[in-house]
Amino acid sequence: MKVGHEPVLVREVLEWLAVRPGGWYADGTVGLGGHSEAILRASSPDGFLFGFEWDEESLHQAEKRLSPFAGRFRLFRANFAEMPQILAREGVQVEGILLDLGLSSFLLKGSGRGFSFLREEPLDMRMDTRLRITARDLVNRLSYPQLVELLRNYGEEPRAAKIARAIVEARRKKRIETSLELARIVEKAVRPRKRGEHPATLTFQALRIAVNRELENLEHFLSRAPEILKPGGRLAIISFHSLEDRMVKRAFREDPRLRVLTRKPVRPSEDEVRRNPRARSARLRVAERCRS
Ligand SMILES: C[S@@+](CC[C@H](N)C(=O)[O-])C[C@H]1O[C@@H](n2cnc3c(N)ncnc32)[C@H](O)[C@@H]1O
Repeated sequence: MKVGHEPVLVREVLEWLAVRPGGWYADGTVGLGGHSEAILRASSPDGFLFGFEWDEESLHQAEKRLSPFAGRFRLFRANFAEMPQILAREGVQVEGILLDLGLSSFLLKGSGRGFSFLREEPLDMRMDTRLRITARDLVNRLSYPQLVELLRNYGEEPRAAKIARAIVEARRKKRIETSLELARIVEKAVRPRKRGEHPATLTFQALRIAVNRELENLEHFLSRAPEILKPGGRLAIISFHSLEDRMVKRAFREDPRLRVLTRKPVRPSEDEVRRNPRARSARLRVAERCRS
């Protein structure tokens, strides 16, 4: 299924990364290439971009989209946690790095991998199909205490115990196979936390984070990213939930190699949120590699 993806905070990213002709940049979450395209355009005629994306189909679509800039970019099907090692091996340092965390509209609506609680799909949730554990494995195999811990640690779900109990009871009767099966189990167990939010929102978030080891990848990346930034080079990270945002905020503040440029996170304008509701929870933080 063909699904587009509207990139968020594009103007703000270009400004905060101070993208300029001839600069070298890295995009750790290429997705369908929206930000990468904007960076290549703004760094014309001779800027260069290293792109990382671990979902094969997204990368394929991005490659097509970026073809007008042939010769000015290199794409890797790789985890962004490996970006520092890969670029260091090539002897590369860049002026700016972007991470745009979270799900793309393609993964949510077009991948068929069970990321959405509104669609009947196999409960998979791997962003990279080379990963070994799926969401189906976790919901069917984890013990009750492990499920509670997963929902608390990765979903900050206050009703973790109730939901975990409902999952354990349901799977006693039948293995849980699809996204809608799981959504219905959670719907029966708890009410929505707030109006307009599906009761399974945090359950799906927690499973996705666990399957893709999202927090571990971000932590690993943050510990090494300053090494591949030129002095004065900038690191811009867009996050969509507080677990990630807190990690980024703390890492920026505590890393002596970095100087924080955004005391408060940059938020999308009302106009952007109206045009693109996915932007609603986006927060951009930026730090600069110290010059000495
Ligand atoms: C919000 S989307 C990025 C959208 C992109 N900025 C655009 O304009 O199209 C996040 C993307 O990052 C990818 N991703 C998430 N974690 C990753 C990781 N650890 N390594 C590589 N790619 C990752 C996902 O597969 C997804 O395509």
